[in-house]
Amino acid sequence: GDMACGEYGLGRLAEPTAIMTAITAMLSTGPLSGKHIIVTSGPTHEPIDPVRYIANRSSGKQGHAIAKAAAEAGASVVLVSGPVTVPDPAGVQTIHVETARQMLEAVEAALSADIFIGAAAVADWRVADVAGQKIKKDGSGQLPQLSFVENPDILAGVAQSARAQNGALYCVGFAAESHDLLKHATAKRERKGVPLLVGNIGPATFGLDDNALVLVDAQGSQELPHAGKLILARQLVAEIARRLKA
Ligand code: CTP
Repeated sequence: GDMACGEYGLGRLAEPTAIMTAITAMLSTGPLSGKHIIVTSGPTHEPIDPVRYIANRSSGKQGHAIAKAAAEAGASVVLVSGPVTVPDPAGVQTIHVETARQMLEAVEAALSADIFIGAAAVADWRVADVAGQKIKKDGSGQLPQLSFVENPDILAGVAQSARAQNGALYCVGFAAESHDLLKHATAKRERKGVPLLVGNIGPATFGLDDNALVLVDAQGSQELPHAGKLILARQLVAEIARRLKA
């Protein structure tokens, strides 16, 4: 990576947290020991101008708990986080990004993984022409007109990659819905092309410390009833480990 002198290349000392994560994973005997996992978490912020952005209500609590639970299970974990106020989980290498495109770039850079868990609430659209300067309310009564372009679908892209298609990379998607959870989660699993999709009711859990999950795979669905996000994260990680073994 980049070095202070401006050079780029091999030889840069890895971040201490990355070294710790790798050592812990190497020494672990947990169900995911030796596995490398990428987790995305939180919202993305899509700029309108230098002072405004579009976002959503995701807090990152569930995604961060999953990263922590995966590290506890012995995996070496890279967490790609959108802007959140929750702290970086201990024992996890956390990369901070703002936009969906930055999140995609960070995910692609870490994609030699065994498991990808897309828990982030990635913004579906970004503003087409981001203003270089603050858009001013100039008194003319003219309202700004925003037009949007679609962001890349990170999960669908990862799920289409050669390693995901040949089974070397196990992909887990999320669905944050407001209604008809099982129906939407089942359809979303097929649409995204992932073996496992985790559904939750977004408005019932955004920002809170507890949640309820429904796991959908090719065999059917399974509920993880209402509990704290870390408890659910540990249950989810155990379910993923079980499926990998099978
Ligand atoms: N996702 C992604 N990149 C995007 C949009 C979504 O990687 N640009 C991932 C999320 O991380 C999550 C899954 O796709 O794992 C589902 O996200 P969600 O926003 O619920 O689904 P959408 O694709 O937006 O579908 P819909 O608008 O129908 O709800």
